[in-house]
Amino acid sequence: MTGSAATYLPDKRSLRALRTAAASCQGCGLYRDATQTVFGKGRAAARVMLVGEQPGDREDVDGEPFVGPAGRLLRAVLDEIDVDTTAIYLTNVVKHFSFRPAERGKRRIHQRPRASEISACRPWFAGELAAVQPELVVCLGAIAATAVAGSGFRLTRHRGAILPRPESVGEDLPGDWSLLATVHPAAVLRAPDRHRARQEFTDDLRMVAQLLAGS
Ligand code: URA
Repeated sequence: MTGSAATYLPDKRSLRALRTAAASCQGCGLYRDATQTVFGKGRAAARVMLVGEQPGDREDVDGEPFVGPAGRLLRAVLDEIDVDTTAIYLTNVVKHFSFRPAERGKRRIHQRPRASEISACRPWFAGELAAVQPELVVCLGAIAATAVAGSGFRLTRHRGAILPRPESVGEDLPGDWSLLATVHPAAVLRAPDRHRARQEFTDDLRMVAQLLAGS
């Protein structure tokens, strides 16, 4: 039977209390092989929350979101458009690394999280939303976008547009934020025309810079 992180939620719902409680989450089976929970990072006062899929190999080891190759690209793009990463909150819809061992060698191959794992982990994301109360939620990639805005959400249709909170967002996700969806930075790294993909990704994220530059 699939569990849920709900059992592990603390009484107090500050970011610090949530992070501490999430460290011992066994709400789904991913905790067994992962090194640690990778909780979101940033200030409770952040106006923008960036949401990815799940920690990767590097994040699993370091315990911080977006510190591996995809994260480095994301941070470089944010830096280029003058978004101070301390002004945003970075997290993932799944807080443990999901992987399978490579057939040969010690490499760990990223594995797409199952729907049951995304749903089991959701109370942590809902807790982060309640604690941070962002004005804008930026979904990085289709997994994050559909986890947040529902399975009918099409990244190809809505990419790069600021949408008022879609009705398809579940009521368990608190707040009156707008939504911006773009591709995952890992997809930019894999794109055949990486230069163009990076440019388009950068253009999507300019909305974040504009919001933060306004009052
Ligand atoms: N990919 C993600 O979606 N999140 C991370 O934290 C790292 C890579």
